[in-house]
Amino acid sequence: MTSFDTIGSIAIFSEEFKGMKKKAEEVLKIRNIETVAVKTKVHSGVFRTRKINILAGKRKKETTHKESGAEVKLNVETCYFSPRLSNERLRISELIKKDENVLVMFSGVGIYPIVFSKNSKAKEIVGVEINPKAHKYALENLGLNKVKNVKLYKGNVNDILPKLRKKFDRIVMPLPKDADEFLDLAVKKIKKNGIIHLYDFEKEEDIPDKILEKIKGLKVVKIVKCGSFGPGKFRVCVDLKVDKV
Ligand SMILES: C[S@@+](CC[C@H](N)C(=O)[O-])C[C@H]1O[C@@H](n2cnc3c(N)ncnc32)[C@H](O)[C@@H]1O
Repeated sequence: MTSFDTIGSIAIFSEEFKGMKKKAEEVLKIRNIETVAVKTKVHSGVFRTRKINILAGKRKKETTHKESGAEVKLNVETCYFSPRLSNERLRISELIKKDENVLVMFSGVGIYPIVFSKNSKAKEIVGVEINPKAHKYALENLGLNKVKNVKLYKGNVNDILPKLRKKFDRIVMPLPKDADEFLDLAVKKIKKNGIIHLYDFEKEEDIPDKILEKIKGLKVVKIVKCGSFGPGKFRVCVDLKVDKV
């Protein structure tokens, strides 16, 4: 049987398989599940979205997901969201020191900024997101969570960040595959001795060599495997220290 992710009250099978309609009816009996769907493509495009087909239960694509004291409303088809990263979000929350200024470069529906706000003593958390639908949910989610120290911008980080007259103690870059394209920009916006968390997908045998090629001589503090991504492939977070700017 294929695995499924649960986002709020929607269970999503990771791939189509024989007998999935019958299995969907069984999954529907699990507590709090109202809709069972299957994803028909992998996350793709600039917005990293994917199509889903509803198999059983309520015909809805909007739900509210809870983790680590935060709750976010989203449409699972028009916005990226992964419940598998909750431990990773908490790991970073625990690294954030009192009064840090934190930037989340690709903030989606706001889950990273909101989890950080609820689980750290950060002074301010700034998020930038290019998908207008995800950004709209993120603004609504700020209100839902009553967080006061998060500021969100809609647009391309390449346009928004050069206009912000500030630098950050910590920058989080949750855009695996392409985050390294934005590394020069992150280095421009980080304070001396600040930390950059860069995400990537790598094969086991390419860790750390392929990562070291991408990080342009910055100092690696830690490489964390934070989930598998297909056979022998991992989502990794590289924690980088920038000691000169
Ligand atoms: C993998 S998703 C992560 C979203 C969110 N951090 C989360 O984990 O739920 C990457 C996000 O980056 C956004 N994005 C891609 N390119 C961008 C850019 N140049 N500027 C701002 N946001 C961008 C996408 O729309 C998408 O929502």
